[in-house]
Amino acid sequence: MKTQMLFENNQDFDSPNKNITPLNTRVDSNGRLIVGGCFLGEIAKEYGTPAYILDELTIRKSCRAYVKSLRRYYPGESLPLYASKANSSLCISSIIASEGFGLDAVSEGELITALKGGVISDNIVFHGNNKSYNELLIAYNNNVTIVLDNQHDIDLLNRIVNTNSGRKVQLMLRFTPGIECHTHDYIRTGHIDSKFGFSIENVKNTLNQLKQFAWANLIGIHAHIGSQIFELQPHSDLIEVMLNVYEYALQIGHPVKDLNVGGGLGIKYVSSDDPPSIDSWIKTISETLIDSCKRRNIQLPRLICEPGRSIIATAGITLYKVGARKEINGLKTYISVDGGMSDNPRPITYESLYTALLVDKAISENNEIVTIAGKHCESGDVLLKEYSLPRSLSGDYLGIFGTGAYNLSMSSNYNRIPRPPTVLVKDGISELIQKREMPEDLLQFDLLPDRFIAKG
Ligand code: LLP
Repeated sequence: MKTQMLFENNQDFDSPNKNITPLNTRVDSNGRLIVGGCFLGEIAKEYGTPAYILDELTIRKSCRAYVKSLRRYYPGESLPLYASKANSSLCISSIIASEGFGLDAVSEGELITALKGGVISDNIVFHGNNKSYNELLIAYNNNVTIVLDNQHDIDLLNRIVNTNSGRKVQLMLRFTPGIECHTHDYIRTGHIDSKFGFSIENVKNTLNQLKQFAWANLIGIHAHIGSQIFELQPHSDLIEVMLNVYEYALQIGHPVKDLNVGGGLGIKYVSSDDPPSIDSWIKTISETLIDSCKRRNIQLPRLICEPGRSIIATAGITLYKVGARKEINGLKTYISVDGGMSDNPRPITYESLYTALLVDKAISENNEIVTIAGKHCESGDVLLKEYSLPRSLSGDYLGIFGTGAYNLSMSSNYNRIPRPPTVLVKDGISELIQKREMPEDLLQFDLLPDRFIAKG
């Protein structure tokens, strides 16, 4: 794609998930890229590379788009939750809480990050298909809503309540709705053979069983069909299937009031991606829900959704420094950068596509086709294949867009490579919100038993 088109297309302030770049991304007459009012080349020099950059405005506008559309289309109560598995940190928790969002956590780490970041426990739901006793205890002690995923959760909670205060636990029940959608196999969760949630044929029994436990305060029903979804129909179908379960729970006397439809709205990684807007996603869900409740003659539940990617992916850019070049005559040219699969495992895991630019040569002619390789000892460590870029030199900075979600959160220390820092940009100011790991930091959990230490 021509660079100019990247910015001409970057006009959707109401639905940042429809843009490749963060809002207000600009390029000056020298071809230098500006995000959040900051020159990316300057940021790279100041904070080093690789570095994750997050544009605060894009995160906030994405949150506001959900809040606005929920108010516009849904007359009942609603609560958007941020799926913090997309990118979890104290600062992000604080931003989303200040936008009126709650949060979905799936581990003790995500839970304490949310609580310390200022998300109130009433607005946190705790997920997971294999929660430990300890995780459930922490969730219980912090009064967060626990999403029952399986019988194991119920058995553990029964033990926890009986050995603790015996007080009621706020619960949702997750089930597998059996809805197919088009996305990568690894990120589909709603299909019948998914590991998540109660199988649909067991749901009634489980709801009946829960009636026996005085501690079980079942307030909601949950389902999630998958991630990076571009179709609206599966979400509409989901509402019908969920309401069948919700209605049954009501009939047998559970005090359900929440319908949690999960997340999944896709974003634009490359020019051929055309995800629905946040507005149309919420509209579809709201209208189906309103219609279906009317037909069934039941009150509107509180509508809960759990977007992750569509809140934060487009706000993110990863900055790398270009290093080695290898030209294989008549075959391909490799350009290697100073990060790769440890900071972005998505290409090697899902063959995900991305859009990139040389951040100080943003208006230069694209005059070569290159493969952007990472620095890890793995042939598959390739970030972009057959990609058209201006001729680059060692020391140039490369920016890859759309890396705000599921990059840091899925990063590793493969090859003992430390994780990049995260820098938040807004109105020309850059702030470090997560420090760069240093090689020595990676030694902090290593132990050398005495017998390995050479004696004098
Ligand atoms: N709620 C539940 C229960 C989920 O499992 C997920 C994502 C979400 C909400 C948020 O979905 P989103 O709005 O972000 O699509 N690592 C994969 C994505 C895995 C998503 C897992 N669950 C990737 O890099 O594409």
